[in-house]
Amino acid sequence: MARIGFFDSGVGGITVLHEAMRMLEAPEYLYYMDTAHVPYGTKTAEEIRAYAADIVSFLREKGADLIVIACNTATSAAAAALRERFDLPIVGMEPAVKPALALTPEEGRDRVLVLATPLTLREQKLQDLIARYDAAHRVDLLALPELVTFAEEGQFDTEAVRAYLCESLRETETERYRAVVPGCTHFRYFLPLLKERFPEGTAFIDGTEGTVRRIAELLQLPLAERAPAPAKVTYYDSGREITEEDELRRIAALQEQLGGLF
Ligand code: DGL
Repeated sequence: MARIGFFDSGVGGITVLHEAMRMLEAPEYLYYMDTAHVPYGTKTAEEIRAYAADIVSFLREKGADLIVIACNTATSAAAAALRERFDLPIVGMEPAVKPALALTPEEGRDRVLVLATPLTLREQKLQDLIARYDAAHRVDLLALPELVTFAEEGQFDTEAVRAYLCESLRETETERYRAVVPGCTHFRYFLPLLKERFPEGTAFIDGTEGTVRRIAELLQLPLAERAPAPAKVTYYDSGREITEEDELRRIAALQEQLGGLF
């Protein structure tokens, strides 16, 4: 049976793991959160490359057949280097700019807003993606690094989160956006709040489902027709297996929260 290794700086990648557990017929999962180094989005690309290489070595030793970089930031900084160094399939994530641009623009509403971490936004990978598909210059970028911190603190719908979003989007003309692209796996937890800030009908497109489809394709796994049996997941926190009841309960609560959203 396939053993799939996911990693992220923290709880963001659980959004992708959750979708995999919903869509795929029961493989076994390893999930590595690098809380010793979270957040990634405000660090340098060199630092992230070093952390990511250690994590992939670790997950491979634990028997992973395929690695999912469940983090846009680590993908933009490290995916190419990881693929060069390791001989197992590595699935990365990138902001869903292409499908967002492919939507038919509406009168007065043709722009696309990419939300991501500062590192993802300044990396060449995203610049290249935009250069390739955005000939008409319809894409705008906005960094929301505090959402990562809020998610790690377990704050999802609090006054502080609402105030942060309100302030961050103060100068954004929300009615001009045809689509918003949450380009950080931590942001998926905040979709209900983000949606509130944009007019009805604004499309929100992220790469979560596409990533799971890619995993299925590479491992030739069937997509589940109805909820698959619960799969075995082993969680790690920066190299240490998580066995404490309260930490496992915190993760289960996040999974449950996502179950309510999707
Ligand atoms: N979850 C990660 C992403 O998708 C990054 C969060 C961080 O800054 O650590 O970009």
